[in-house]
Amino acid sequence: MQITETMAIVTGGASGLGEATARHFRQKGAKVAILDRDRDRGAAVAAEIGASFAEVDVTGETSVASAISAAKEALGGLNAVVNCAGIVTGNRILGKKGVHPLEPFERTIGINLIGSFNVLRLAAQAMEGNQPDEDGARGVIINTASIAAMEGQAGQAAYSASKAGVAGMTLPVARDLARQGIRVMAIAPGIFMTPMLESLGPEALADLSAKVTFPKRPGRAQEFAHLAQTIIECGYLNGEVIRIDGALRLT
Ligand SMILES: NC(=O)c1ccc[n+]([C@@H]2O[C@H](COP(=O)([O-])OP(=O)(O)OC[C@H]3O[C@@H](n4cnc5c(N)ncnc54)[C@H](O)[C@@H]3O)[C@@H](O)[C@H]2O)c1
Repeated sequence: MQITETMAIVTGGASGLGEATARHFRQKGAKVAILDRDRDRGAAVAAEIGASFAEVDVTGETSVASAISAAKEALGGLNAVVNCAGIVTGNRILGKKGVHPLEPFERTIGINLIGSFNVLRLAAQAMEGNQPDEDGARGVIINTASIAAMEGQAGQAAYSASKAGVAGMTLPVARDLARQGIRVMAIAPGIFMTPMLESLGPEALADLSAKVTFPKRPGRAQEFAHLAQTIIECGYLNGEVIRIDGALRLT
């Protein structure tokens, strides 16, 4: 699939990696629908780049189903999804404020893992009637994991578990959807300069940047978007998690 033929939903497209992906895809000629719970920012980005927008929480069952069918109609079809909606939380199991509360653990799994699954299952349903190409391909789904799926740091039990879930479901979902000709991939970013990373504070940011092997800086959201384009265009990539991290290995 060429990027110019791509009709993509980008969740989390109001900010950071999702926003960069939506902008990059539009610039390369793809049609884009942004799904995000941030109405102000999502609508502003969509208006600026000529995308459609739906205010939606990725964990909602009926709201996501309606947003996907509205996006499909607005784009004239649907053959790609890039799931970027996500949150980061941090709590030690036995921290200064006591035991790890259950709520942030459930919320992190709910948005990062179940939200991604919710969008992908309904998007796959919306893609199964697509006209197949000569390989039988009907679409591609890209989820966002994290290197924390493999090397979570202290305080990241919830975040790492959610991202390990995203990484772990990549192969079985690719196997499930092979019959429909839908490829499934995940991107595992290291550290990328986005509002999420900036929320960790300048000290943590400097500390993490110093650990990157090369180039010694956080990734640019544009570099993530470029990889998402490559995955869409390279029809033999399937069922794999690709790290994009400047060889950063967290300890
Ligand atoms: N920035 C990094 O260094 C980094 C590293 C590894 C993985 N990631 C992952 O990349 C993804 C994007 O992160 P980012 O850095 O761009 O963060 P970000 O905070 O800049 O953007 C996240 C977007 O997701 C949206 N969102 C959050 N919860 C939502 C929900 N329930 N429903 C709909 N939209 C929701 C937010 O409104 C926001 O627009 C996340 O899954 C994150 O875990 C980021």
